[in-house]
Amino acid sequence: MARLLVTGGAGYIGSHTAVALLEAGHEVVSLDNYSNSSPRALERVSRIAGRPLTAVEGDVRDAALLKRLFAQQPFDGVIHFAALKAVGESVSKPLAYYDNNVAGTLALLQAMQSAAVTCFVFSSSATVYGAPDELPITEQAPIRSTNPYGATKVMVEQMLRDLAAADAAWSVVSLRYFNPIGAHPSGEIGEDPNDIPNNLFPFICQVAAGRRERLAVFGNDWPTADGTGVRDYLHVADLAAGHLRAFDFARRRRGFTPVNLGTGRGVSVLQLVHAFEAATGRSIPFSIVERRPGDIAACWADPSAAARLLGWRAERSIEQACADGWRWQSRNPDGYRGEAAT
Ligand code: NAD
Ligand code: UD1
Repeated sequence: MARLLVTGGAGYIGSHTAVALLEAGHEVVSLDNYSNSSPRALERVSRIAGRPLTAVEGDVRDAALLKRLFAQQPFDGVIHFAALKAVGESVSKPLAYYDNNVAGTLALLQAMQSAAVTCFVFSSSATVYGAPDELPITEQAPIRSTNPYGATKVMVEQMLRDLAAADAAWSVVSLRYFNPIGAHPSGEIGEDPNDIPNNLFPFICQVAAGRRERLAVFGNDWPTADGTGVRDYLHVADLAAGHLRAFDFARRRRGFTPVNLGTGRGVSVLQLVHAFEAATGRSIPFSIVERRPGDIAACWADPSAAARLLGWRAERSIEQACADGWRWQSRNPDGYRGEAAT
């Protein structure tokens, strides 16, 4: 049993990870400013796990709050999800991204260092690989950014690498997620985009629910089997389980370790649409439109380091992710906003 600080615990991936941590017997303190989430997600997390967690409303950039939190209780480690994540918005508001994602992480690491808490799991992203030279992508591939959001992940990874090199007390695992989709099988928690979804899976869910008329498929002239973009989609519950394994690894092993979390399988836009239709019985009308600027043709992980180092493998299928994502969407058509305050 360990006591963990989970920043961004009310968010999409943080809430699923909080369930997994509680179910494994750990104590969870969530720190979230709810800028892109609802405290209701945390109520549901406790309900699913059958155990309470501590929810602190606050900002990771608030050094005084962090100091108080670390003084109040001894933490065994920190899992750091809190960040802004919309690529397009990062291009128009770069300073907000550098502030939240880079300055926020810096404030957190400084508070941890002062409190001698040196076990850290970071939410990185496959976006750090930019347009990959080779597939599947290994952790040795060059790191680069093609937009300010990606740049924040590259910068934080540099900071973490330098910190672990400077001070042998630190154990840091940087998890490079590929494309998380789906929801907890209970249908109680899931992804709850505020606006028009940028990502494929939540957009498909909203078309299925009748909130959007049709999916725009961004190009069918990519050099892929069916001409549509290929990605490595993994069930968010598998991703959550990966954090547990990463934390266990970080408790045993010092230094900086980047690890891909993906399935190792590429799935095209049209394959995902068909899998969703088969798993849910809903039809997804779509039109082929121009390519999205900045997109790449294909991207999938070499997940062998996760298997070797963490003992982790993605176990759930795309069809399961579609069925679970649809259960969340159909039961919560307005996300957490649809629930009356209790
Ligand atoms: P999310 O927006 O659902 O969760 C992020 C949470 O952090 C939200 O609850 C938000 O309110 C909170 N937050 C943001 N800034 C904060 C701050 N300054 N102080 C306190 N709380 C703050 O996003 P998510 O999809 O769960 O992503 C979690 C992490 O994983 C992020 O770091 C993201 O960049 C990374 N990531 C996500 C994906 C993806 O496809 N969802 C892919 C790769 C990496
Ligand atoms: C996005 C982010 C990336 C992040 C990743 C994982 C962008 C530009 N990039 O990339 O930084 O690491 O998610 O969360 O947002 N598609 C459509 N129609 C849509 C939406 C998407 O055809 O309405 C296609 C895309 O062209 C792509 C695939 O679906 O081929 C997946 O898109 P998306 O879900 O946005 O993920 P990424 O492009 O991998």
